[in-house]
Amino acid sequence: MSILVTGGTGFVGSKLVHRLDDCVITSRNAENAKSKFGTEVTSAIQWDYEQGQLVFPAGLQLESVVNLMGEPIGEGRWTTQKKKRIKESRVKGTEQLVKAILQMPQKPEVVVSASAVGIYGHCGEEIVDENTPANSDFLANVCTAWENATIPLKEAGVRVVLLRIGVVLGKDGGALAKLLPVFRKGAGGRLGSGKQYVPWIHIDDLVGMILWAIQNQEIEGPVNGTAPNPVRNSEMTKAIAAAVRRPALLPVPKYVLRSLLGEFADSLFASQRVVPEVAFRRGYQFKFPNIQVALNNIVNS
Ligand SMILES: NC(=O)c1ccc[n+]([C@@H]2O[C@H](COP(=O)([O-])OP(=O)(O)OC[C@H]3O[C@@H](n4cnc5c(N)ncnc54)[C@H](OP(=O)(O)O)[C@@H]3O)[C@@H](O)[C@H]2O)c1
Repeated sequence: MSILVTGGTGFVGSKLVHRLDDCVITSRNAENAKSKFGTEVTSAIQWDYEQGQLVFPAGLQLESVVNLMGEPIGEGRWTTQKKKRIKESRVKGTEQLVKAILQMPQKPEVVVSASAVGIYGHCGEEIVDENTPANSDFLANVCTAWENATIPLKEAGVRVVLLRIGVVLGKDGGALAKLLPVFRKGAGGRLGSGKQYVPWIHIDDLVGMILWAIQNQEIEGPVNGTAPNPVRNSEMTKAIAAAVRRPALLPVPKYVLRSLLGEFADSLFASQRVVPEVAFRRGYQFKFPNIQVALNNIVNS
């Protein structure tokens, strides 16, 4: 039986696909996706939530589903249209995925559906675990609706894991891929006071957590996809600078990023001291609990 990955062509999805034996992906451009992975994927299903319902090929049997698709949050200004796409690609996309799964004669045992630590909003110095209530800003509302779109699966007896993903650190995408060239020029710096906590995770640990959540039947509901040691932005800045062996002297004021990036900049200044309580309790073994070791690994790999 196969594992279905939505958003399999993305930064996290691509890494996950490499770790799977029998993987089916969905994509808005299935032909490109198939040629990107070749024989690594069993098949690529053409699906764009804006074009209509997801239809699975007859006879498809799924052991599990990993739902990762969504309009990128950190690229482009948050215009009204962009915010609509950020929300609808996740909420309407997940609703269509859920509907298709519920129509299967034999449903998968588990669906691991991405969410984000954005659900907690700005929490200052407070330690945040999976029991912390959702906030009510734009990203928190998106995450709440995204998670709620999976409720019919739970009601149908499918195990649902809601992976609240932190800032994923890897070479091939996400925030770090954008920061590394700046730091390599010696132009990196902390954001504002640098006191805000960053809930980071090494991409290998995130992929490891997805596989762990699939394999362990006792894992269900919200799971923070973050490293055990969130660090302040100033510590992360020093760690990136040390990894690339360059100084990071100039702090970047909030108003500068606000004028460059618009509303998205606010999320870079939110403090989120998130801990992966469920992963601790259920025994996930982190490969990269330490930020400097994680960054050295990424930069030197
Ligand atoms: N990376 C992070 O630091 C981070 C942090 C927190 C949460 N997350 C969440 O984790 C998931 C995976 O992250 P990622 O970094 O791998 O994302 P990504 O690289 O941006 O990839 C997401 C995939 O979603 C599909 N997609 C993009 N825009 C879409 C749209 N408007 N409508 C429908 N599908 C669209 C694309 O697949 P096709 O082009 O093949 O259709 C794309 O490959 C995302 O939902 C993201 O919000 C990521």
